[in-house]
Amino acid sequence: MKLTLKIWRQKNAQDKGGIVDYPIDGIEPDMSFLEMLDVLNEQLINKGEEPVAFDHDCREGICGMCSLFINGEAHGPDRGVTTCQLHMRMFKDGDTIFIEPFRAKAFPVIKDLVVDRSSFDRIQHAGGFVSVNTSGNTIDANTIPINKHDADKSFDAAACIGCGACVATCKNSSAMLFVAAKVSQYALLPQGKIEAVDRVLNMVHQMDHEGFGNCTNTGACEVECPKGISLENIARMNREYLSASLKG
Ligand code: SF4
Ligand code: FES
Repeated sequence: MKLTLKIWRQKNAQDKGGIVDYPIDGIEPDMSFLEMLDVLNEQLINKGEEPVAFDHDCREGICGMCSLFINGEAHGPDRGVTTCQLHMRMFKDGDTIFIEPFRAKAFPVIKDLVVDRSSFDRIQHAGGFVSVNTSGNTIDANTIPINKHDADKSFDAAACIGCGACVATCKNSSAMLFVAAKVSQYALLPQGKIEAVDRVLNMVHQMDHEGFGNCTNTGACEVECPKGISLENIARMNREYLSASLKG
């Protein structure tokens, strides 16, 4: 395949940045999108040019690092996949492909296509955990019966990999789908109920503090989420938040 790549290049956080054109040839339809970028970077390095910086780690749809906006869509044109799982067969020979970083005030660009998503980490640190009583009398989690429906819903929410596609897609740069998935994951389980009030209040407070926008129920986040996280989690988080505010 012969393609024209239009890639966002930005030297550092202060640089204004801009789109640079890169014609590329010899791309196989079975290559992943990141493998295609590897080929480009090899060519740039051989020419003595600066390779394109982009985030990646597992390349298996698990870590949530590969945050690219491709032809105006987070993780590109396929559905239910991350950028590392996107294949070049989704494009046609001769295509022009725009590749940009995820854009949101709370995700500042570090270099080229790499953004700082530590705001997500700080939200997690604010309450996305269950404290463990290590007194020696701790009950084995497997001995606590959990209703199948709740366990399934909790597992569905726990599928969130923190990639940030929901934020990049939302016109308000809202992080509600991500935070709602993390809150729901615990709210549905007995182990998560002990700290439920503090968790939802602290995580929502941190989300607002990081500068994410609010949710206006457009639903674009759900469409672009590679893990199929449902909007029903946002409704659950709103209920949790209201009830915690009344108790608080
Ligand atoms: S909710 Fe979906 S899009 Fe948002 S961070 Fe989690 S996996 Fe990514
Ligand atoms: S590189 Fe880990 S999800 Fe894509």
